[in-house]
Amino acid sequence: MSVTKGVLLVGGPSKGTRMRPLTLDCAKPLLPIAGKPMIWHPLSALAKVPGLTEVIIIGFYEDSVLSGFIKDAKREFPNIAISYLREYRPLGTAGGLYHFRDSILRPPVPQNIFICNIDICCSFPFTEMLEFHSKHRGVGTILTVKVKREIATHYGSIVHDPATLQVLHYVEKPEGWISDMVNGGVYLFDRSLFDEIKEAMADKTARAAEDPLVQPDDMQKLALETDVIVPLAASKKMYVYQCKDFWRQIKTAASAVTASSLYLSRFAKTAPELLAPSGPTIISPAFVDPTAQIAPTAKIGPNVAIGPHCQVGEGVRVKDAIILEGSTLDQHSCVLNSIVGMNCHIGPWARVDGSPEPESGVKGQISVTILGTEVTLTPETHVRSCIVLPNKSLNKSSANQVLL
Ligand code: GTP
Repeated sequence: MSVTKGVLLVGGPSKGTRMRPLTLDCAKPLLPIAGKPMIWHPLSALAKVPGLTEVIIIGFYEDSVLSGFIKDAKREFPNIAISYLREYRPLGTAGGLYHFRDSILRPPVPQNIFICNIDICCSFPFTEMLEFHSKHRGVGTILTVKVKREIATHYGSIVHDPATLQVLHYVEKPEGWISDMVNGGVYLFDRSLFDEIKEAMADKTARAAEDPLVQPDDMQKLALETDVIVPLAASKKMYVYQCKDFWRQIKTAASAVTASSLYLSRFAKTAPELLAPSGPTIISPAFVDPTAQIAPTAKIGPNVAIGPHCQVGEGVRVKDAIILEGSTLDQHSCVLNSIVGMNCHIGPWARVDGSPEPESGVKGQISVTILGTEVTLTPETHVRSCIVLPNKSLNKSSANQVLL
């Protein structure tokens, strides 16, 4: 069986700004989604791929940010090697692949390499992609997603030949509509990708030499989408594998609630042991950390993830929500369509709610309520569709506001 490796692109501290205030205290790849760090979802799917020997995480976070997660992951997935390679500065989605090419290609030399953005929520059909990839003679397979016409230009748009499944044309976030089929942020490449990246880097260096406006820092940067996939599409060396399941990007804090619900529903089918058993208190699917304390008269779920050391009092109602580590929900409080940050305190009869994240995102409107770390709500306070920055104490009700 040929050797396969996986690369997870995690970015760094300057990325994930749309996740604020949650990413003020927790690196984006580690944000709990359905009770597991965001990066755990693609990693656990990669660990199941036959012949996959190693997963390399590439980003520009300090090593210490991810070291705890990597230590736990090595214990959980002992069948694969897991390592973190740190870019000395942001190198773009292909610059890190170029910089660390020798580490990725070291023995056992991979025939195939999965490359995956970590801010994608989907079922990661890696095994199916591998099967499809082995049947065509292209350099790469790209997971594509069919989206609504009105949001298609927010993504990398793909025009493909429906008969051969070859990519004919790729445009990253085009100004006008060209296709409903978009880049899903999950790729499988033959190792000859590295020849293509080398060529793309040489092209870029040649162009930069003629352009006095290019900064030295930008010379090292390379984007997989525009610098590598665009020429691969033009030379018909990429193929599409259409996603048949759910798919979302996790860019905003609100999208984390949607992603959490999708993963919880998936766990219900594929890994029910990860979920809290249904009963008078729990409406499935819901994740409750074993260290959380839930009063028997509370009602939790569906689509709820409750983190470690949380305390949920009598008569509390939680639905479509993420409650992060160490938070307390006092008796008869209610949390709907919201994320409660770490160590928050929701007073008795207080209510935190919002509306579900709209698929296309309406500018200027807040849907899901997000409470930053250590926010306190006094009894009976009602917060609706607000973003609340850390350490605030709220004693009056608010709606549709950013509370600084
Ligand atoms: P936006 O909509 O502007 O966020 O663009 P995008 O959806 O195309 O995402 P982006 O290109 O910023 O990131 C795609 C993935 O690559 C994410 O998982 C990022 O964390 C990761 N990423 C982005 N830039 C870098 C980088 O310089 N180095 C590394 N290692 N990863 C990166």
